[in-house]
Amino acid sequence: MSVNPNQAMWEKGDFTRIAETMRESGDALIESIGVGKGLKVLDLGCGDGTTALPSARRGADVLGVDIARNLVAAGNARAKAEGLTNCSFQEGDASNLHELGDRSFDLVVSIFGAMFAPKPFDVAKEMVRVTRPGGRIVMGNWIPGDPTLVAQILKISSSYSPPPPEGFVSPMTWGIEGNVIERFAAAGVPSEKVSFLRDTYTFRSSRSPAAFVADFKNFYGPTMTAFAAAEQNGKSADLQQELEALFERQNRSENKDATSIPATFLRVTVAV
Ligand SMILES: C[S@@+](CC[C@H](N)C(=O)[O-])C[C@H]1O[C@@H](n2cnc3c(N)ncnc32)[C@H](O)[C@@H]1O
Repeated sequence: MSVNPNQAMWEKGDFTRIAETMRESGDALIESIGVGKGLKVLDLGCGDGTTALPSARRGADVLGVDIARNLVAAGNARAKAEGLTNCSFQEGDASNLHELGDRSFDLVVSIFGAMFAPKPFDVAKEMVRVTRPGGRIVMGNWIPGDPTLVAQILKISSSYSPPPPEGFVSPMTWGIEGNVIERFAAAGVPSEKVSFLRDTYTFRSSRSPAAFVADFKNFYGPTMTAFAAAEQNGKSADLQQELEALFERQNRSENKDATSIPATFLRVTVAV
């Protein structure tokens, strides 16, 4: 079987290590969307369930879909440990959700998930296809050029990584309103049904900013790829230093041995 590079990138790491720092914001986001009992929710690019579990705790019927099999297993284990029988996780690719029927969900949530899938026009089409008319799609997308944490990590990481293959569309283009409108328009949703707001996710860790950088280095696919490339060019120490300086600068925790870093993202709501 041929290797799916997107799947390989996320499976080589262990995103659960980063996700642990995102739980509070995940819960707050689901609260603000108004997820409640009986709602059929698809959480796309769900990781280990940072937003899927809060939806299920509020009584929704939740399916988490992710390309990384280790994260699907971690999500199912977390749901089981909490006794959440209304929440399950399965492998799937946001660019081709052939296993899911048309108009199956009231709400599709994809927080920093579908943005990482290749073929963004197919991703928009698939999200619209599986949402019932009258339903909603809510995406959280990092914003290119934004000065806060994740956009800067991805920017620094890409400056140490080999150039992407020809035809590669950067995931960060999902953070540009014009691109989002164009993609949903091609999926049949007019621009007046797409709305945007800037929101914040806060990464909280009991570990220091430097230790948090180490987690990105060892467990976050895109940063691991950058370190592997930097290593080959003898630039791994430079990359580490740039990231540590970034994390220190952005840390808002009063206890400097802990980390609390707010990051801005584009919240997209699509009325289907
Ligand atoms: C930054 S993580 C976010 C995970 C989760 N939504 C959260 O908020 O913690 C990105 C996730 O997208 C998943 N992903 C990447 N490409 C995907 C694709 N083509 N289809 C489905 N999931 C994908 C990754 O495996 C990873 O779990």
